[in-house]
Parts: sequence; structure tokens; C-alpha cells
Amino acid sequence: MTTYRIGVIPGDGIGPEVAAEGVKVLTASAELEGFQTELVEYEYGSDHYLKTGELVPESVIEEWRGLDAVLLGAIGHPDVEPGLVERSVILGLRFGLDLYVNLRPIKLYSEHLCPLKDKGPSDIEFVVVRENTEGLYAQIGGHLKKDTPDEVALVNGLYTWKGCERACRYAFELARKRGRDREAAGNPDRPARVTLVDKANAIRPHDLWTRAYEYVARDFPEIETDHAYVDACCMWMVKNPEWFDVIVTTNLFGDIITDLGAMLQGGMGIAASGNIHPGRTSMFEPVHGSAPKYTGQNVACPLGAISATSMMLDFLGEASGAQRIERAVGDLLQSGDVPSADARSGIATSEMGDMVVSRLVGAAAGQASS
Ligand code: IPM
Ligand code: MN
Repeated sequence: MTTYRIGVIPGDGIGPEVAAEGVKVLTASAELEGFQTELVEYEYGSDHYLKTGELVPESVIEEWRGLDAVLLGAIGHPDVEPGLVERSVILGLRFGLDLYVNLRPIKLYSEHLCPLKDKGPSDIEFVVVRENTEGLYAQIGGHLKKDTPDEVALVNGLYTWKGCERACRYAFELARKRGRDREAAGNPDRPARVTLVDKANAIRPHDLWTRAYEYVARDFPEIETDHAYVDACCMWMVKNPEWFDVIVTTNLFGDIITDLGAMLQGGMGIAASGNIHPGRTSMFEPVHGSAPKYTGQNVACPLGAISATSMMLDFLGEASGAQRIERAVGDLLQSGDVPSADARSGIATSEMGDMVVSRLVGAAAGQASS
């Protein structure tokens, strides 16, 4: 039996509560699919930092490189300097493991979750490929003459040919796969398309993205090409979300447009992401943050963490397990039993996890008996 060694970093705020539900669903899935998990829990996060002063040491990053995957809850605490622990844990993983794609599906499971007028599940089903190791996140910059009237703050956006090219290639390969999957499902009406989102009019170095994208596109003649500046992209995401299939974009723009995307699919509570380097240890997490005000109340929506678990299984090659979790989440949301995918749903975090597990197990039992 295959055993996967999974690092679990529950983290801060609602992180431990939602990660526990991700693990609950993962464990149920392991039993159904016939694989085993060995979970290795790590305490890194703000509480650990406040207690010990310790951030993530390089030796632990090295240890993470030896796992099959990592599941993360959330990081961030109001008593710690903004971003300090996030940079250590989240960016530590993204940069330390060279997880160059941040894959963020925007999928509306049920109409009642959508804030847009006259849009439904068939209109909102796309994926953002966010470059995850460069751009304005590269930590190049700093302050001069800090706390004086002459203070200078400088930040540089870093873009490399290699970084742009591999993100674009991932996006085109994904579009090809999505197109083939839609065709196999008898639903080929929506063309496979990759939209490059940048700001190459105002930020001319983004022209590197333009060229890398065009270079990669030549290898995918059957995939439609498309481009939007990021401001227009925000407008189109609200006006015509059905236009999008795969978006590829810079680190910062991907960060921003996927919060907008999360709202289109029902809220931050539901959005999931995979920080991926194909063939290497990758990390999966909900898109939301640590939501300090909901900490310990058992009200946070764990569907983002649960869907992240599904993405992790897909990455590990457990396609059936991944699809069954995704279907369980989709069925649950379509059932009408979940009024909203947020802290006001009236459903406890742990109860929502149980609801997914019971759909998962019930569907598998139904399949087995039919
Ligand atoms: C995200 C988060 C992170 C980011 C923060 C916590 C550093 O917003 O994963 O989207 O900006 O990437
Ligand atoms: Mn973000």
C-alpha cells in the first residue's frame, strides 16, 4: 500500500481548525482509496514564534523537501509584526521549495453562492496560474533613512525568462488538459484558452512576460491565446467571467485577482490553492488567512482547506480520491444544506467536515452497491 508522508502546518488563528477538517477528509479518503498517510505535524507559526522567538530554520525547510506534500492551515497573528511569520513559513515554503506555480481554481459550485447577477456555475469555472517565486515578492528592496522625513522605500519587481517561461508552460499544459477533459466529458463548447494578465503598458519590463508567453504559445497551436491588463481583467472577471479558462499572471496580480475570484465562487472560505513544483514536494493551503476574530470559535468554513486536500491528492496521483472529494464538496453545496461558505453559515467548522466525509463515504458506498 502506498504511504504518503504529509507535513501538516496548522499555523495560526483558524488555521488549526480548518486544517483538522482537511486531515479528517484526507483520512477518510485514504480509507476509501486504499492508501496510507503518515502525518508529520509542525508547530511553526505565530504562537510558536511568540513563545520561542523561532522562525522556520533552514534545516526544517530541508526536511520538508523530503516529504511527499505539505498541508498548511493559515499564518498571521495581530501581535506579530505584519508579514514576519508569513514570510518565514509561507514564502519559506514557496521560495525554499521553488514552488513556482500557485494554482488557484475559481469554480462556482452552486448558484446561491455567487454574488453576480445572472451568472451561474457554467459561467465561473477557471483557473489562475499565479507565478509564485518572483515579482514584487522577491524581497529585493528596503528602507533608507528610516523614520526620518527623508525616508526612502524601494522595492524591485524581479522577473526572469525562466520564471515567466515555466509559469506560461504550466498554464498552457493545463489548458490542454482541461480542453481534453471537457471534450472527453462531451462538453467541448468552451475553447481551451490561456489569458496572460499583466500591466505591460505601464510597467514595460512586463514585456518579458509577453515574449515568454508568445514563445510558449507556439508549442500549443490548438490553445487560444488572449491577453488582458490586470485592471481590465478585474472588470472582465465580474462582467464576463465565462470568458476565462486559464489565466497566467505575476505573483502580486495573482494574489489580488484570486481574492476577487474567491468572492465569485462563494467567498474566501471556499477557495483553495496548490503551491506546486511538478515532481517535487508541493504545498497546499486554503487561500484565506488566519481570520483572528474567528479563532477558536468553530465557525470558520473549512471547505477551502478540504478542497486544498483534494488538490494535494490530485498532485500525488490519487486522481480518484481528488475527484471524489471535489464531488462531495460540490454535492454538499448544491444540496442547499449550506447557506453560505463563510463564518455565518450556521454550520460549525467540525460539522462541515463531517458533512463532507458523510457525502464522501455515502457516494462511495452508493457506487460500490450499484
Ligand atoms: C496568499 C496570501 C499571502 C500572499 C500572504 C499571507 C503572504 O495573501 O497566499 O494569497 O500574499 O501570497
Ligand atoms: Mn492573498
